[in-house]
Amino acid sequence: DKGTYPFYMLKEIDEQPAVMRKLVQEYFDSDDQPQISEKLLQAMAESDHIYIIGAGTSYHAGLIGARMFEKLCGVPTTVHISSEFAYEQPLLSQKPFFLFLSQSGETADSREVLVHVNEHNWPSLTITNVDKSTLSREATFTLLLYAGPEIAVASTKAYTAQIAVEAILAKALGEYLSRDAAQNFDLKHQLGTIANGMQSITDSKEDIEALASRYLSKPRNAFYIGRGIDWSVSLEAALKLKEISYVQAEGFASGELKHGTIALIENQTPVIAIITQDRTAGLTRSNLEETQSRGAAVLTIVSRHLAHEDDNIIIPDVDELLTPLLSVVPAQLLAYYTSLGKGLDVDKPRNLAKSVTVQ
Ligand code: M6R
Repeated sequence: DKGTYPFYMLKEIDEQPAVMRKLVQEYFDSDDQPQISEKLLQAMAESDHIYIIGAGTSYHAGLIGARMFEKLCGVPTTVHISSEFAYEQPLLSQKPFFLFLSQSGETADSREVLVHVNEHNWPSLTITNVDKSTLSREATFTLLLYAGPEIAVASTKAYTAQIAVEAILAKALGEYLSRDAAQNFDLKHQLGTIANGMQSITDSKEDIEALASRYLSKPRNAFYIGRGIDWSVSLEAALKLKEISYVQAEGFASGELKHGTIALIENQTPVIAIITQDRTAGLTRSNLEETQSRGAAVLTIVSRHLAHEDDNIIIPDVDELLTPLLSVVPAQLLAYYTSLGKGLDVDKPRNLAKSVTVQ
């Protein structure tokens, strides 16, 4: 039931702080330690490479998770689009571990990979929102997202829940492997800060609605840009905008723009930069200026400690690995209000179904 909300998507965006708190409850014990079964940690610890498999938004959540497994656990991790991996497998490592991300647990492209994984008896984990879904039943292990049903076709709370569960798993595995980075990662506390931060962003809906109307209501094309983890969020932000507001949006590595794509920038093309990482903030800003001098209408989503006076959307500071949990929220809202402003059916965009059960 969407209660007083005009669309499920807005309700689901608003539920994200509660989902973060629920995940803390479900996955942490009273000593603030993550609770993940020893068997799962052992299977992952024995592997030499984690292959993350997903489609759409779940693939984008995997891009964030991969960084966590590499940084907190020291395990090489790659992320793959399921429909590609199923028919053109890379050369695999000696001891692969497969991690499936799927909100619905029913995506046919991802299942196709799992069938193959099971033929080889490789260990696997599905992180899903739907208990006893196909991908959950057929994988060796399951972790649940506890996000509650996601009804809107555009995935929002499942994306942030997937990132949070990946972080919890990466912390648990890193500790199991005695990695300092994981031991020093104050995740439970961070997730609490993030829940409050999400809340403060969703409380500023009117500002974001005004920005959507000013920047995104008319143009046919737009760019989200960033570097590293901010680039990964750009891909998800652009998908949201395409999917529900039909703006042709591209998520782009900001440093790569000058190698060709900047030719697309015209007068008033919206370019939205996501800036949350100390090492690359200055570089992304200069790439943004390059687009501005070609006429782009620029908009910024920036972590507080990196913010300048003329930035548009300031998000609270959190650990650099977890910034996607906050930076994506304004992007979800920008897509929502752009779609709403155009009078579109936000929850049921054209040509799409919630769960994609064909290859
Ligand atoms: O249920 P899944 O997570 O496996 O679904 C994968 C994609 O179909 C899904 O994330 C899709 O990209 C969303 N509609 C994006 O908002």
